[in-house]
Amino acid sequence: MDISKKLNDAINAQIGHEFEATLQYLSMAAYFEEEGYKNLAKRMYEQAEEEHAHGMKFFKFVLERGGKVEIPTLPGPKAVFTSALEVFKAALAWEKVVTKNIYNLVEIAIADKDYATQQFLNWFTNEQIEEEANMEGYIKLAEKVGKDHEYLLEGHV
Ligand SMILES: [Fe+2]
Ligand SMILES: [Fe+2]
Repeated sequence: MDISKKLNDAINAQIGHEFEATLQYLSMAAYFEEEGYKNLAKRMYEQAEEEHAHGMKFFKFVLERGGKVEIPTLPGPKAVFTSALEVFKAALAWEKVVTKNIYNLVEIAIADKDYATQQFLNWFTNEQIEEEANMEGYIKLAEKVGKDHEYLLEGHV
């Protein structure tokens, strides 16, 4: 095994977080579908697919490094939302937690002097900048239009 047990365990937890995010974004997509917001739903489906791809990147990395993939039990996603603003705020809060989790992985890789993993994690660090910026942008728009006119967001995602 080319990665430490500690790092392997932490990456397995991260695989869980990424798949959890997949479910969370699907749940958000379902809410937007219920509201008749096709474009917002589409955006969330895309996001869900991205999160699945992130999970798989970690999954394959563990295998490539001779580690053991163990997918943790996933908590169910939040299913009830009352506005687009609430969805985006929940998504941003989620992304911020994911960013912290990734920093935590970087710290373990640094302590292990595991340069290959540090290199691998750079991609995720950069990806999180974009993810957070996207959600912050949506929150700004949702706050501007307000709940009564949130359908206007359909043309802006
Ligand atoms: Fe992700
Ligand atoms: Fe994400």
